[in-house]
Amino acid sequence: MKIAIGADHGGFHLKEMVRILVDELGHEVQDLGCYSTASVDYPDLARLVCEKVDAGIVDRGILICGTGLGMSMAANRYAHVRAALCHDHYTARMSREHNNANVLCMGERVIGHGVAEDIVRIWLAEEFSGGRHLGRIELYSKC
Ligand code: RB5
Repeated sequence: MKIAIGADHGGFHLKEMVRILVDELGHEVQDLGCYSTASVDYPDLARLVCEKVDAGIVDRGILICGTGLGMSMAANRYAHVRAALCHDHYTARMSREHNNANVLCMGERVIGHGVAEDIVRIWLAEEFSGGRHLGRIELYSKC
């Protein structure tokens, strides 16, 4: 898959790990920044990634900030983005199976790199279940 990744300064170090991991898993990674721990505004990075997801230029996105909260709030403003903030294995799996999440958000200040690695592996591998869940996510546009 084509995966766009982005982070602010609060997520920079985890984003670096995720970039290497996603590449090693055989995906095409587009690293849209940031590229240091210098302070930046997370909505700007969310926009860079989500514009590509929204337009179908990439298959999925991964966004990281200090908590994952700001990134997930910003990402879900895009019509075709279904962003999930995941800090455990169960929500990572269910965000794919039931919600067909196409953007994964995490907080570097919340979880360690080991848990984050497991979350990314699960999230990239799990398929959407479809069925009744498809009708439900189609209702998002009416919210
Ligand atoms: C930056 O200090 C921090 O606010 C940001 O990374 C994120 O946690 C916002 O939701």
